[in-house]
Amino acid sequence: MNRISILVFHPLLHKSRVNQKLVRAVEGMEGVSLRFMYDIYPDFFIDVLKEQEVLLENDILVWQHPFYWYSSPSLLKEWIDLVLEHGFAYGRTGRALEGKQILSAISTGGRRETYLSAESGKFSVRQLMAPFEQTTKLCRMHYLPPFVTHGTHLLDERGIEEAAGRYATVIGALRDGLYSLEEIRKYEYINDLIL
Ligand SMILES: Cc1cc2nc3c(=O)[nH]c(=O)nc-3n(C[C@H](O)[C@H](O)[C@H](O)COP(=O)(O)O)c2cc1C
Repeated sequence: MNRISILVFHPLLHKSRVNQKLVRAVEGMEGVSLRFMYDIYPDFFIDVLKEQEVLLENDILVWQHPFYWYSSPSLLKEWIDLVLEHGFAYGRTGRALEGKQILSAISTGGRRETYLSAESGKFSVRQLMAPFEQTTKLCRMHYLPPFVTHGTHLLDERGIEEAAGRYATVIGALRDGLYSLEEIRKYEYINDLIL
């Protein structure tokens, strides 16, 4: 069984409609732990050693956050800048994260179609997530297709529950190693793995 650490980066989780439900769906699952990063680090002073310890203790890391300006809330960037140190996460001797899997679980106000119209000059979610993917590749991690909840403003309670249920199924499947990396990578979004 894989151990999974979900780092939740949402500055206003108590006001969230989507991420809060996603959190509830995976809370208490065996082998899965959650860290509410804006509660732990309200002043942005990240405990680098503690965070590296968490990384070492887990096989799979999840960055869960709303999409903010085609990227993440700023605390995740700060976390990346500080925690993924040379000599720990990358560089000739930095092999602590080698072979671990990493999943971005994001929610976007924009609908899926909005991010598919590449011909109109817009970028897809996968293209926009490139800095995260490239960063984790440098750390020799396996970047999985993201879990994406689109059109958050249009989703009713049922739609949100459905997304949350699917999230729990995906997290459970990753924990139990039900799918090979080769199979998972066939999909643009990991959501589509589970029908
Ligand atoms: C500061 C800010 C920036 C945002 N930028 C984007 C964006 O670039 N693209 C997008 O699709 N939605 C964007 N949104 C919408 C959020 O992604 C959306 O409200 C969020 O995913 C809803 O999840 P929640 O209910 O858990 O807060 C933005 C929202 C805020 C507050």
